Amino acid sequence: MCARKTAVAAATVANLGPGFDVLGLCLEGPRDTVTAELTATGRIELVDVSGPSEVVARLGGADALDNCAGVAARAVIEAFAPGAGARLWLDKGLPLGSGLGSSAASSVAGALAVAACIDPNLPKEMLFPATREGERLATGTPHPDNVAPALFGGIVACLQGEGESVDIVTLPVPRGLMVVCVKPDFEVKTADARAVLPKEVPLGDAVKNLGMMAGLVKALASDDLRLLGRCLDDRLATPYRKRLIPGYEDAVEAALKAHALGAGISGSGPAMFALCGDRDDALAVADAMVEAFERRQIRAHAIVSGIDRQGGHVV
Ligand code: HSE
Repeated sequence: MCARKTAVAAATVANLGPGFDVLGLCLEGPRDTVTAELTATGRIELVDVSGPSEVVARLGGADALDNCAGVAARAVIEAFAPGAGARLWLDKGLPLGSGLGSSAASSVAGALAVAACIDPNLPKEMLFPATREGERLATGTPHPDNVAPALFGGIVACLQGEGESVDIVTLPVPRGLMVVCVKPDFEVKTADARAVLPKEVPLGDAVKNLGMMAGLVKALASDDLRLLGRCLDDRLATPYRKRLIPGYEDAVEAALKAHALGAGISGSGPAMFALCGDRDDALAVADAMVEAFERRQIRAHAIVSGIDRQGGHVV
């Protein structure tokens, strides 16, 4: 059996701008780390979960197949080493239920660590379906817009095909683009945030999103940050989900006042994101958004990050 292998995968911002279930980007951190070794038992075992005590209290001691890292690892084994088992060690760097792609980071790190034990040359594209199984367990849907950027890095668009098939298109990352994520101190479960979405949306809203999507792609390709800022709005999910985030409007207003290009909900929330043209703006925007939540007696934490182009990887 192989030596232990360790892989990392970072936080992600899904539903970027008008790209509900389509566009996501990869942050430089925080990251989840999974160490794996293969066994001959045919079972997946989650040996240990480490990280902040409240996270360990929720995830520690669970069956491996109740954990997205374990489910993604099992999917890799079923595909590439049927009959084998694996022992996993998970170190959680991401908060749970945050809108920062916590389940995706565990899924991707789990899939990569086990894959590295089986065959270090397995291409990431072949692991993508396994990472979505982890997401399916955690959120009730294998939505791709967190696992794709966590696996491939950069800014990606997920093109949904027949059934659950998804093709990944990598988009350009403008020079110097910075991301601010601010997580207020409460949780929103992705399944709950999906439950508030309507089955149908007004045609006018769909048309607005389509226009913004075209503008956003052009803006990324041409380093046009002004255009990018105009194209970060969303009419498909945000109008229904913002009521799950007390302080949402104030935080957006504070971000724009502090010269963010645009702001919105990160994934299914409650974290919010803002894009900024440089690090100084990003630091000011982070402070402004945290203060906006604190004015409502809601504690909040900010992450200021560039966009990671490498994606999940073995360390
Ligand atoms: N696209 C997913 C959703 C992202 O909004 O439900 C979850 O982080």
